[in-house]
Amino acid sequence: MSDSTTFKALVLNQRDGQTVASLTTLTDADLPPEEVLVAVDYSSLNYKDGLAVTGKGKIVRQFPMVPGVDLAGTVLESATSAYQPGDRVVLTGWSVGERYWGGYAQRARVKAEWLTPLPDKLDSRRAMAIGTAGFTAMLCVMALEQAGVKPDAAKPVLVTGASGGVGSVAVALLAQLGYRVAAVTGRPENETYLRELGAADFITRETMNQPCRPLEAQRWSGVVDTVGGRVLARALAETDYGGAVVACGLAGGADLPTTVMPFILRGVKLLGVDSVLCPPEPRRLAWARLARDLPAAVLDRMTQVVPLAEVPRLAEAILAGQIRGRMVVDPNA
Ligand SMILES: NC(=O)c1ccc[n+]([C@@H]2O[C@H](COP(=O)([O-])OP(=O)(O)OC[C@H]3O[C@@H](n4cnc5c(N)ncnc54)[C@H](OP(=O)(O)O)[C@@H]3O)[C@@H](O)[C@H]2O)c1
Repeated sequence: MSDSTTFKALVLNQRDGQTVASLTTLTDADLPPEEVLVAVDYSSLNYKDGLAVTGKGKIVRQFPMVPGVDLAGTVLESATSAYQPGDRVVLTGWSVGERYWGGYAQRARVKAEWLTPLPDKLDSRRAMAIGTAGFTAMLCVMALEQAGVKPDAAKPVLVTGASGGVGSVAVALLAQLGYRVAAVTGRPENETYLRELGAADFITRETMNQPCRPLEAQRWSGVVDTVGGRVLARALAETDYGGAVVACGLAGGADLPTTVMPFILRGVKLLGVDSVLCPPEPRRLAWARLARDLPAAVLDRMTQVVPLAEVPRLAEAILAGQIRGRMVVDPNA
């Protein structure tokens, strides 16, 4: 294939200290010298992409940068025997779209070790409907399982930031696995949507944001928290004896105004989840679980496909908490 093949990309540059995103035509010669050339079918929009594209978070430090922390597509060329032309692959994390050129382009050249073969049951559009957000939700569910939180527990599992990307997939996965799910949302207009994904109970964000005592009434067998701050502190104070809380996000803040009481008097476990550097084995397991446990119809219900040109506008919207579910980005539209 010629190095002069042209393709479309969203490129970030710095102008007067501001991050500027523009749709640009690049050639293969512009791509970094990595091992595997991928034709990108789809990327997606995550909270971190919002921070990167708007420049509101210190996510990107080298410019020009092609953002997009996720991509799914087909291998065009490979310098290693690990992948062959025609292989279907998915990539999330590994600082792609932050330190390395990412998925907001029709083509990407990446390290072979960053790629995961796409499970047979998933096409590239549904893989990006899952994306980093859905993959993280699966890691959170696996962490709850490993901590012994069972679907038949007497109390529900709480999901915070429920109508966001991580939250929507967590609600759907937990409900599908037989857990009773309570959803925290700041947008009551999303209750019907969340009920369709499988949520049974609803708590307002405002309620969860109230300052709490070190221990409150025990309401949750487990928690998936995407919000942090006072919401996470209350979730800890309300978790059942021996229960587990998985913290994966900071949509409401990076602080944690809590005490040790839930840990030392109720044996509550606080578990962290990171999707970016998740090692290959749990990564493949999580993708296999997603292909098995997340019904395609439920995933489709929470997904919208948008063209690359819409990303700068939607990047602002996701930071403002205005996006519902998952946005799949089509670089070929
Ligand atoms: N650890 C990891 O590897 C990892 C991976 C992916 C994402 N994350 C983090 O997880 C979080 C969610 O990511 P996402 O892609 O799902 O983002 P998202 O789609 O924007 O979802 C976040 C949700 O949180 C709620 N929310 C927003 N602002 C809030 C506030 N000020 N207080 C309380 N709730 C608020 C909203 O849900 P409602 O309107 O329903 O309340 C919003 O939809 C982000 O902080 C992201 O950085 C971490």
